Amino acid sequence: METKSKPVNTSVMRKKPLAAYAADMQKSELKRVLTRWGLTSLGIGAVIGGGIFVLTGIAANEWAGPALALAFVIAGIACTFAALCYAEFASILPVEGSAYAYSYGTVGELFAWLIGWNLILEYMMGATTVAVSWSGYFEKFLHLFHIDPPLWLMNDPITAQEKADVMRAAGQIVPEFSFAVNLPAFLIVWVVTYILVKGIKEAASTNNLIVIVKVATVIFVVIAGSFYIDVANWTPFIPAPVVDDTGQTHFGFDGIVTAAGIVFFAYIGFDAVSTQAGEAINPKKDVPFAIIASLIICTVLYILVSLVLTGMVPYNQLDLKAPVAQAFSDVGLTWSVYLITIAAIAGLTSVMLVMMLGQTRIFLGMAKDGLLPRNLFASIHPKFKTPWKSTIFVGAVVSIVAAVTPIDKVSQLTSSGTLFAFAMICGAVWLLRVREPNLERPYRTPALPVIATLGIVANLYLMWNLRTDTKLTFLVWGIIGLIVYFLYSRKHSNLNNPQE
Ligand code: ALA
Repeated sequence: METKSKPVNTSVMRKKPLAAYAADMQKSELKRVLTRWGLTSLGIGAVIGGGIFVLTGIAANEWAGPALALAFVIAGIACTFAALCYAEFASILPVEGSAYAYSYGTVGELFAWLIGWNLILEYMMGATTVAVSWSGYFEKFLHLFHIDPPLWLMNDPITAQEKADVMRAAGQIVPEFSFAVNLPAFLIVWVVTYILVKGIKEAASTNNLIVIVKVATVIFVVIAGSFYIDVANWTPFIPAPVVDDTGQTHFGFDGIVTAAGIVFFAYIGFDAVSTQAGEAINPKKDVPFAIIASLIICTVLYILVSLVLTGMVPYNQLDLKAPVAQAFSDVGLTWSVYLITIAAIAGLTSVMLVMMLGQTRIFLGMAKDGLLPRNLFASIHPKFKTPWKSTIFVGAVVSIVAAVTPIDKVSQLTSSGTLFAFAMICGAVWLLRVREPNLERPYRTPALPVIATLGIVANLYLMWNLRTDTKLTFLVWGIIGLIVYFLYSRKHSNLNNPQE
């Protein structure tokens, strides 16, 4: 008898059959241990970090004034549209891999690859940025105890040199150095890598503990700070617009939108919940719940912190590096600086933990589909049941980049990748509703066409408002992604063997 083999679809828009996801889930070697609130805690763990503890200073001082809270509302709305769409996707396809996996089953391979490629900006670049912020707060912590390590041990070479020049210009004696490395950033990444290799349960319990500390601190900031609000600091709530030499508008509505683009970084991470679906006990219901719950909790906290900060200190006096700690020190609550610094250090650690965890799960999804080398990215440790080689690879990249690169502006690059992925996910979930209306959807996004359209417009609009050099770097990153796809991934994709 003649057997006919199915023709291979070589289109770049070929899709992974939805039935293959169910098979993947059955074969998954990851342990299912995460509960609904465990997932929510992971979301909060990834979200509250450098954004609220660091970026609020620049956003209020230079762009939004007391209307910082409105910037958080705008960024929060853009994220809410994306979160509602993410939630529907996560309920249909509760697999590791997040937006990458969802688009592979709905829009097509190349589109999915580009989303996965951009999620690397969100997760790996995000973890790198946060590692450097961690080192900054750690240095502040050492200063509280009058420990003053040398510049060359705490900074990348370029930043160390810049700081030395500033200190020398101010008359301080700084010994010459020919080598510099951000050692704390390097080391903390390896501590996090160790926890992640040991197991998801260890990672989740470490994260839960940190989340309790940081949420408690944020609530403390809101309650204690509210006693020091001077309503005069809120007037005018939206300062009159000022155009600078480069033609950029500070304050007014335009300033608020720019500030929204900056503080968008503070929300990044709620979608990390969707990368852990492979380890959730009841992913179809709990992942959508955790995505939306962590976003709502963080949005409320952020708006309250913004109002308190701009009420405590005139916006043009907010510190650019550690605005929260400085505001409390300014009103005389110096002891609370210890608490806030420790919470920031702990908080940033958990952001790194979840970001790096998310990255390895996205790589795992891509490798299982054949788009990345399996032996590196899909190899699961026999005892710990974690993708250990991939975790060590991610740890190595993040630690080295964080140790030697000045990352002052990289938060914008992280945001660009994330905004793009959010806009695409809104489009993809809508497309799937039209193409496969009868699929079982444990969670349905309300008024999907409206929410998806608003999500696409809002996220692309915030992306458009990022700096030009960020947009160019984003483009270059995309081109490298296309080269890798055509040289490697397309040839190794599982879809080349439809029989399997
Ligand atoms: N949302 C995370 C932070 O603010 C990335 O640190």
